[in-house]
Amino acid sequence: MYIVTLPGGLGMAGLENSNSVPSASAQQGWGSSLGFILAAAGSAIGLGNLWGLTYRIALGGGMAFLVLYLVAVVLLGFPLLLAELVLGRHTRRSPVLATVAVGGPSWRFLGWLFLLSSTLILGYYAVITGWVGRALLAVLQGHLPTDQAGADAFFLQLSGGWAEGVAYGLVLALTAAVVATGVQRGIERLSRWSMPALLVLLMGLLLWSASRAGASASYAEVLLQWRWCDWLDPRILRQAFSQAFFSLGLGSGAMLAYASHLGQGDPLPRQAAIITALDTGVGLLAVLIVVPLMGPVVNGGYGAVGALFVAIPLGFASLGNAGPLLMAAFFFLAAIAAITSAVALLEVPVAVVMDRLGWGRARTAWSTVAVVALLGLPALLSTDLLMASHDLFGGVVLIGSGLLLSLLMGWVAPQQVRQDLSQLPPPLLRGVMLTLRWVAPLLLGGVFALSCVEIIQPKISLWL
Ligand code: PHE
Repeated sequence: MYIVTLPGGLGMAGLENSNSVPSASAQQGWGSSLGFILAAAGSAIGLGNLWGLTYRIALGGGMAFLVLYLVAVVLLGFPLLLAELVLGRHTRRSPVLATVAVGGPSWRFLGWLFLLSSTLILGYYAVITGWVGRALLAVLQGHLPTDQAGADAFFLQLSGGWAEGVAYGLVLALTAAVVATGVQRGIERLSRWSMPALLVLLMGLLLWSASRAGASASYAEVLLQWRWCDWLDPRILRQAFSQAFFSLGLGSGAMLAYASHLGQGDPLPRQAAIITALDTGVGLLAVLIVVPLMGPVVNGGYGAVGALFVAIPLGFASLGNAGPLLMAAFFFLAAIAAITSAVALLEVPVAVVMDRLGWGRARTAWSTVAVVALLGLPALLSTDLLMASHDLFGGVVLIGSGLLLSLLMGWVAPQQVRQDLSQLPPPLLRGVMLTLRWVAPLLLGGVFALSCVEIIQPKISLWL
């Protein structure tokens, strides 16, 4: 093993040997393989599963969207998750230095892209998480909207006023407190109780929701929606891939940062398969819970955010006495899912700062979260800016860094991938390599171009 000193005094672990010296941020390992799986699943399972997937299926093509989303998860999500885990575990570095360690200084910008996306996603994610907390508080106090006008007012109230800022600050403070406490004592401990609690609540809600009268009619109406043109619609294709990326948290460096605390004995393929299955499974269960609730209101004009805060409370209110209890369970579940994702997002900049500046974890967590709080202010002040940030950083940028990641691991560092995934059966390993080298760059290049056109086109037509 050798250490190469990078400009600025940064140590780069020798690549031939996978037992590189862990960086400051990676020194503290996970307590167990299960602890890592739960934390990584906690990072992946978030508001994207509970609301994004249903909303997009309902709006954009039902069956076609669902199938394309599943194809994106299996074809690209799983291999790219593996690639991110290999990059983290192999280098045992934070996201910025990990890319340099395998690709040299010219790959540093991919690390910066990880840093940019995770920090800016956290900025707006914390705003929505604050709304979730306020919705939970409102239902516990017995305030449940009963009609469309009441639901509109409910959402406007959640997303405005000084209390919104307080909720935002509290979410970020809670996130920083978990990250500051440490990988094992903070992040792993939180995931160990919160993930099982989330699964139990989800199952309970599913049993109730699926057994309601009219549930199968809603499933048929939304999920079996079938139009041939949807399959060729570039918007649906782009949204299905973006959803898969956002849901697995790929391209943000979060999985990489978590994997940098893994030991050499951890079976990455099995762990990646379980994380992918849990994330996708929870997304599908949430679809089955939410579809019978929201029915036709999904098109209510509030975009994806409204689906969660307008249509869902209205759906629960229509259930009579059981409504408030079920809604409290749903928003509690959403709060757990959101906090564990926020923690993973904060871990990226924290690991980078610890690695580069050598600061302690607590000091880094609190200073980094202060910067995030400032960067998230535009999203706090305007829901339109929040949605625009989601489209840009939670969509285009994640796809772009996923594309670069596949090039890095498929072409620049294939040896590291082969070495770390040697337990995979040879045909599967060949499939992963083929995906990283050809399938992912081509598909993601296409989706990236489509996303750029979709963002730029309305602006051009405004000018013309
Ligand atoms: N996957 C999370 C969700 O579905 C969001 C997230 C994105 C988490 C990127 C970590 C990294 O809500």
